[in-house]
Amino acid sequence: MVQVTFISNDRKVVSCPEKSNLLRVSLREKGGIPFKCGGGLCGTCKCRIEQGIENTDAVKPKERKILSQADLDGGLRLACQTFVNGDVSVSW
Ligand code: FES
Repeated sequence: MVQVTFISNDRKVVSCPEKSNLLRVSLREKGGIPFKCGGGLCGTCKCRIEQGIENTDAVKPKERKILSQADLDGGLRLACQTFVNGDVSVSW
């Protein structure tokens, strides 16, 4: 299991299996990450991986359409397109 800390939601901490989708974890556990489409199109779920970016999977082409390289370098991801393989802390 991995730990996800929702910094913008009073640092709520939940656990989930490895390879979980970050937005799905947020929905299941009431983490509070904003979302609309769930499909990598709207950008609403843009969030910053404050800790544990190395524990996220590869950036998807859909994310590159919405996030600049500077965004990505700053740890931004789309939660609906991001899978976690280890502990992460996320803000938005
Ligand atoms: S919810 Fe629309 S891009 Fe993630």
